[in-house]
Amino acid sequence: MTIITRESRRKSLSKPRLEKAPEHVAIIMDGNGRWARQRGLPRSAGHRQGTENLRRIVRAAVEFGVRIMTIYAFSTENWSRPRREVMLLMRILEMVIDRELQELHEEGVQIRHIGELDGIEGRLARKVAEACEYTRDNQRLILNVAFNYGGRDEIVHAVQNIVRAGIAPEDITEGTINRYLYTSGLPDPDLIIRTSGESRLSNFLIWQGAYSEIYTTETYWPDFGPSAFYEALVDYGNRRRRFGKTDDQIEADVSKYARVPERTI
Ligand code: IPE
Ligand code: IPE
Ligand code: MG
Repeated sequence: MTIITRESRRKSLSKPRLEKAPEHVAIIMDGNGRWARQRGLPRSAGHRQGTENLRRIVRAAVEFGVRIMTIYAFSTENWSRPRREVMLLMRILEMVIDRELQELHEEGVQIRHIGELDGIEGRLARKVAEACEYTRDNQRLILNVAFNYGGRDEIVHAVQNIVRAGIAPEDITEGTINRYLYTSGLPDPDLIIRTSGESRLSNFLIWQGAYSEIYTTETYWPDFGPSAFYEALVDYGNRRRRFGKTDDQIEADVSKYARVPERTI
């Protein structure tokens, strides 16, 4: 395990404080294969380099004040890749847990898994569950790892559990569905970042992302370092989220909240 002291990390990431940091950032970490191909390397080298980048971005998220991060690591559709690559991606997750768990714990990162553990090989499934259990009381950053995750699968799951719970149709609201998703209890992502130039969700957080800001960049995931991440957060800070309202309404809301109460003597 590489030792990065708090001091050296602070120096390498020092950036002006963000005025409006998103609370929840979700990332579609894409482009590992193309990153490798560009260098004449096997796809596996891209995936390995991708995990190196992940450690940098998780630390940067803590530093930049992001409270919740959700990363897309393996989709329900990724099972259709060649068997060797699927096995490798499983092995890489196991290696990341072994290598990073203690340090993430010390940093105050709470690891959660979203997706289906059924269908994942027993030893890996146990490791994922243990990592979640071990870090469950940490509060600095919630890190949702979407592994064997699909947004449609998540909704099917939610509907099955709602029916199982015997909830009457007329009692089902958006809140009910939120409570039965893997992300139950967490706010929706404010920002979804996708690397590698693709502009699609690929079945990621399709319910929760209804009003997320989307940021895409041509940069492949292994090269999307802390500075690029910071730029995405700055870009988010310049967006105007309307949630269906007009600009005038948004301005009125902003000035209402910005108004300083008069002092009484
Ligand atoms: C993202 O990189 C990692 C996973 C989907 C697991 P890709 O493997 O999709 O890389 P490209 O898109 O083929 O370049
Ligand atoms: C999305 O990337 C899944 C992950 C990043 C884990 P893909 O590379 O699988 O997406 P598509 O197939 O190009 O849409
Ligand atoms: Mg891809």
